[in-house]
Amino acid sequence: MVRLCVVGMGHVGVVTASCFAGLGYSVTGVDKDHDKLMLLSQGKPPFFEPGLSELLRGGIDKDLLFFTEDFDEAIKASEVIFICVGTPSLEDGSVDLTQVEEVARGIAANLNDYKLIVGKSTVPVGTAKKIKQTIKLINGDNCPDFDVSSNPEFLKEGSAVNDFLFPDRVVLGVDSKRAEIILKDLYRDFDCPVLTTDIATSEIIKYASNAFLAMKISYINLVADMCDKVGANVHHVADGMGYDRRINREFLSAGAGYGGSCFPKDVKAFTSLAADLGINVSLLREVDRINEKRICLIVKRLEDTLWVCKDKKISVLGMAFKCNTDDVRESPALKLISKLADKGCQICCYDPKAMSNVRAQLNGLYELISFAESPYEAARGADALVFMTDWPEFGKLDFLKIKELMRSPIIVDGRGMLHAHDLEETGFLYQGLGLGGRLSCQ
Ligand code: UGA
Repeated sequence: MVRLCVVGMGHVGVVTASCFAGLGYSVTGVDKDHDKLMLLSQGKPPFFEPGLSELLRGGIDKDLLFFTEDFDEAIKASEVIFICVGTPSLEDGSVDLTQVEEVARGIAANLNDYKLIVGKSTVPVGTAKKIKQTIKLINGDNCPDFDVSSNPEFLKEGSAVNDFLFPDRVVLGVDSKRAEIILKDLYRDFDCPVLTTDIATSEIIKYASNAFLAMKISYINLVADMCDKVGANVHHVADGMGYDRRINREFLSAGAGYGGSCFPKDVKAFTSLAADLGINVSLLREVDRINEKRICLIVKRLEDTLWVCKDKKISVLGMAFKCNTDDVRESPALKLISKLADKGCQICCYDPKAMSNVRAQLNGLYELISFAESPYEAARGADALVFMTDWPEFGKLDFLKIKELMRSPIIVDGRGMLHAHDLEETGFLYQGLGLGGRLSCQ
């Protein structure tokens, strides 16, 4: 059976390595971060992802999953190498490919036999070509046989294991029969369409998919603004639209907007790529602009109710960029906190899973911030509660108790996840986004 190597033990890398080990392959995970590798070797994922620790431990116990800092040895011992390193944004929105380039050079120096190099990191069109060119240049005339291909990931944090094992599709971007055969064989047991394309098409599919999903979210947020003006309910509008199978209800949840390590970065990168190609990018720019505006709307909701926010205690419930993850990268909640801090608010925050990441991000950054151990502690003495992540447990809170703990019973629902009517019955002043400018108190 072919030996796999996964370079980069971030979210995509760890899930890819663990899932392939779960399918019976021998996999080596490589990273430079010693502490992360120690955790992984003990079967502990360095982040929260449902179902991952079981797979990780299973792979280690069966001697199928190994972790190492020894990049050279891992490359030499493997036939298929997945590149899963980070591709962060540069100031101008384009992609920083430093890590991908470094891996390509490292592979070039360890090309002892045929290798299939597979790009999983989200990269601009042409990256696979650059990897190939770099490896050839370094090895000169005696370059051993190798192929470079693109196999984009479509993993959502919070359901990444399930998305890996039961994907909607697998995309294989290849330019040689040998690469196609190896990759098709790796995915032979997957019960989904396997689309084989040229490499540029595969690289575009990834960006086009993420930008399209982000566009759906910004579109429904635009509709939410309209609903606010005319007294309509955006969630019902989304239901009405979503029953149309061509539209589909998924990614039509209006609210605080999209965050995370993918959509904000990928929309900007796709825009930058299109602009470089001389394509009019106003549609993509608007997706980003609408998303940025969502936080201002939440601040406005607070000002509409509290009047002056300065010195008020505002508690933010939900810090992760979405539920089922402890990831706070580009989290709308963090953006809100920065705006509230500028206004001189006292801020208290709580998240069921992300508090250690929140502390790492915020400790010492703002004077007036505190961290709560529970939603009830956050509610104590608060002038307003803002819900920023759609954690299911927030819907089950004892809102009567919350109301008693708060100084004034104001709720801003940034995710449209609570029952406005029930909260109003309990005596809250409930504010949502796209709910007809709801501002009423029983
Ligand atoms: C996203 C894509 O969904 C994955 O297919 C892709 O593989 C991944 O990026 C990636 O490129 O690696 P992810 O960032 O984990 O996955 O999270 P999503 O579930 O897509 O949510 C992104 C953001 O959109 C979250 O902040 C979420 O709260 C927000 N969102 C999502 C909405 O505001 N409304 C919706 O209806 C859906």
